[in-house]
Amino acid sequence: MSTKSNLNDNLIISEWTEHVRNLNTEYTLETGKIKKFKLDVFGCQMNERDAETIAGMLTDMGYEEVYGDDFADIIVFVTCCVRENAEEKIYGHIGALSKVCEEKGSIIVASGCMMQQPHVVEKIKQSYKNVKIVFGTHNVHMFPELLYRYLTKGKRVFEVWEKEQRIIEELPIKRAEKHKAWVNIILGCNNFCTYCIVPHVRGRERSRKMEDILSEVRALAEDGCKEITLLGQNVNSYGNDLGEKDLFAKLLYAIEEIDGIHRVRFMTSHPKDLSDSLIDAMKNCSKVCNHLHLPFQAGSNRILKLMNRKYTREHYLELIGKIKAAVPDIALSTDIIVGFPGETEEDFEQTLDIVEKVGFDSAFMFIYSPRKGTPAAKLEQTTPSEVISQRFKRLADLQTEIATKLAKRFEGKTVEVLVDGPSKQNPEMLSGRTRDNRLVNFKAEGVEKGEFVIVEIVRAGAFWLEGRGGK
Ligand code: SAH
Ligand code: SF4
Ligand code: F3S
Repeated sequence: MSTKSNLNDNLIISEWTEHVRNLNTEYTLETGKIKKFKLDVFGCQMNERDAETIAGMLTDMGYEEVYGDDFADIIVFVTCCVRENAEEKIYGHIGALSKVCEEKGSIIVASGCMMQQPHVVEKIKQSYKNVKIVFGTHNVHMFPELLYRYLTKGKRVFEVWEKEQRIIEELPIKRAEKHKAWVNIILGCNNFCTYCIVPHVRGRERSRKMEDILSEVRALAEDGCKEITLLGQNVNSYGNDLGEKDLFAKLLYAIEEIDGIHRVRFMTSHPKDLSDSLIDAMKNCSKVCNHLHLPFQAGSNRILKLMNRKYTREHYLELIGKIKAAVPDIALSTDIIVGFPGETEEDFEQTLDIVEKVGFDSAFMFIYSPRKGTPAAKLEQTTPSEVISQRFKRLADLQTEIATKLAKRFEGKTVEVLVDGPSKQNPEMLSGRTRDNRLVNFKAEGVEKGEFVIVEIVRAGAFWLEGRGGK
């Protein structure tokens, strides 16, 4: 349900949208052509979801989406700044477009997390003149207005809001997929892990109202969607700002009642907030998939404290014990940072120890990257970079060995797969995910994207399973 002020926002947005659409209609009448847009999205699922809003707005404004190397009049970057290499890659991509901008008149729009940092916006102003419009994570809804301003005045438009505002519901959306969908439940983060830029660029926690989420999920189900992933930097704090405790578990029980949705996933859970009632909900709700992503970041209590993670290794292992007892076939994944400032060999061995003790089916492993404005960036890095690279390799090798062993138990077994389309690893095969989020590449006849198939696994490795399937 929209609140009154929400309605006002939505009306204003649709007016700007109409102004741009009128310009595009004139262009089409004159030239017989339709203007094109393309998205270049970096970072996490939050950005994937924001990109769907931006694509929805552009579609409503009369643009048509193109992909790959096709020419686009507007190229929108949805940027990430979680690590330095993400930022460098984005500057590289923007720079590489200078020819098509100069010769063919494409314009670049830069949005997303990187733009919430004033030094980035300054650099873009000075050095990346082909970027014509900049907005941040808190004012995505202004895009139609900013685009209209640029198209009618021809001057570069920079508009980034420093602070978050309340959530605007019912913004346009063009979803990337029909059979599965991202659903935001909470925006922002209050945790301030000392290495992390996210709270600085995504603002404080704001939960969407439960009835807004449920009506979105119901609409998705009616539209044929089978799997939803509930999104938040920390889904376990869902509802805290609405003054209700443990609302996330209640939300899972409510979604369980919605016909048509077969699978429910969520990410990310913070170990300090993973409650017993959530573990119960995972056990009791048949639609909630048997997969939990629970980042532990570091295995040493000393480093966890320096990271401001607010839990200990003992607490983390206790949680893992509880979830394995409640959901015996649970698949576990995690995030790990190697080389936090001052990490000693002993600290690092504690990280390896957690990896051995838990047995993660998959892990995202990162080398620590100092982020301007975060407390950890002020800490002195006493560990040489070669040592950090060696540690990273030791960790990655150990994790691959464990994941391979864990995956082997699937050989000769059958699994249920929701088909995503052609495989990225082998285009002659189809690919999809199991309930426990394993990637499966398989051969099958007459099977379409969005269908469930039963696949017999013939080979299992650390990163994907291979099989043959039928309905
Ligand atoms: N909200 C989620 C994800 C945050 S970003 C969570 O709390 O788990 C995704 C991952 O990037 C983090 O889990 C962390 O492992 C990694 N990360 C964040 N900041 C980083 C930094 N400065 N250097 C290296 N990795 C980082
Ligand atoms: Fe970053 Fe920590 Fe928030 Fe995750 S919980 S987004 S790692 S500050
Ligand atoms: Fe990156 Fe922003 Fe996500 S910094 S990881 S895109 S919240």
